[in-house]
Amino acid sequence: MANDIDPFSEKLRVPEALTFDDVLLKPKRSTIEPDEADTASQVSTNVSLTVPILSAAMDTVTESGMAIAMARHGGLGVLHRNMNLDQMVEEIERVKSADELIIPLEDVVTVDPETSVREADNLMAREGVGGAPVINTNGEVQGIISSTDVRPHLEVDENDPVEKAMTDEVITAPQDIDARDAFDLMYEHKIERVPVVDDENLLVGLVTMQGILQRREYDQAVRDEDGQLRAGVAVGPFELERAEAADEAGADILFIDCAHAHNGNVIDSAREIKSTVEADVVVGNIGTREAAKDVVDFADGVKVGIGPGSICTTRVVTGSGMPQITAIAQVADVASKHDVPVIADGGIRYSGDAIKAIAAGADAVMLGSYFAGTDEAPGRVITMNGKKYKQYRGMGSVGAMQSGGGDRYLKDTDEDDDYVPEGVEAATPYKGTLQSELQQLVGGMQSGMGYVGAESVPEFKERAEFVRVSAAGQQESHPHDVVITDEAPNYKPDN
Ligand code: XMP
Repeated sequence: MANDIDPFSEKLRVPEALTFDDVLLKPKRSTIEPDEADTASQVSTNVSLTVPILSAAMDTVTESGMAIAMARHGGLGVLHRNMNLDQMVEEIERVKSADELIIPLEDVVTVDPETSVREADNLMAREGVGGAPVINTNGEVQGIISSTDVRPHLEVDENDPVEKAMTDEVITAPQDIDARDAFDLMYEHKIERVPVVDDENLLVGLVTMQGILQRREYDQAVRDEDGQLRAGVAVGPFELERAEAADEAGADILFIDCAHAHNGNVIDSAREIKSTVEADVVVGNIGTREAAKDVVDFADGVKVGIGPGSICTTRVVTGSGMPQITAIAQVADVASKHDVPVIADGGIRYSGDAIKAIAAGADAVMLGSYFAGTDEAPGRVITMNGKKYKQYRGMGSVGAMQSGGGDRYLKDTDEDDDYVPEGVEAATPYKGTLQSELQQLVGGMQSGMGYVGAESVPEFKERAEFVRVSAAGQQESHPHDVVITDEAPNYKPDN
């Protein structure tokens, strides 16, 4: 009997696409210990990171608190865009000024020489500072007063003017002082703060020992050429005004935030944004070789991910998507030939997934759910059935789209009833500090580099080879035939 079901219809001759669990890294001869593996990597034309990790531009993941912590620990936070332009500028400024060496004039507490000792004492207590430059009406530095100078003692009465109590032989620093010289200067003179002055002795800022010591704590920090922390910001595909405001406020990288950037209008608009701003422009998300070809001539980086995210429903709602390992490899095939860095965005549950993303060709990875439960993520801790959680929602969920940013999904979303969500609202277990999560993530990635015998990210990308894993192999990869008695810091069976 003739077989009238032809399984070889052209439509069904389909290529296979793979994701994280489908592959493993082939272990190779190695002389590299994990701690020696250098994780530094390029994330866009002008920005490199100490650890190749970004926190997602989501309103339950990255605001300034997360972005500051990410940059201090060597990664990058990408501020979400469910906020108006003024709020965005404020958030960017918070990140950029967080660990500033020189506190700018507008933020320095100063006193007038005529002010009474009592008033100066009250002012310093109110502002929470231990000392203040004394400046005349022209802004020239006349002296410096510290809280110990104003404590009652024999020579100075609390009604006396500050000029009687201040130190008038002030040590000052020039505007181009760096952290090392500022530290040496303060150490030599046994002082806690140094006014920074211009050529005419006008006060322009202040350096404090406390600030310097704080910066030293973060030796991995990712900073710009002025020593300020790096900041990334999401902008909508058609938000030229937001892009300009973010650029003006000092953002280092603008991330075109679109669920499907392989769209003619999105690409035209991204190109226009790129030609208008000074910051680097990363275009995303894409997931194919063809999309990469259409953006690599102008993009400073590309972001990959069509539907792999933990809170995404894009693939089930639209029937479209690309399993993440194949998506990264396809995009990287093209991008690497143009020296355009690739960021793998979404779907990463374990450090092993992150290093597989790099092996597939990514230069850095972006994570949402991994960080949403940390202290630094926006939102409060909630308790359900005795367990602690934090809210985590897709930017394509109804709730997030109601707060703005629906154009990520290229829909006109004026009417609530019109929302066709591509994400869910959820909760994720509370995890404590970002630092401990990052430590596990980076440590696992370094161990992965060790198994492949690579000392740096570029060398790892070169050496890494995948093997395909069967369903039985996947099962074997996870703990099996045991009951876990103690939770590991980097493994959760129900992830
Ligand atoms: P993870 O898996 O790290 O993924 O939680 C974070 C990434 O998911 C993307 N994202 C979404 N994708 N619908 C989607 O299809 C959504 O509602 C949504 N919200 C975020 C985004 O790329 C993020 O970085």
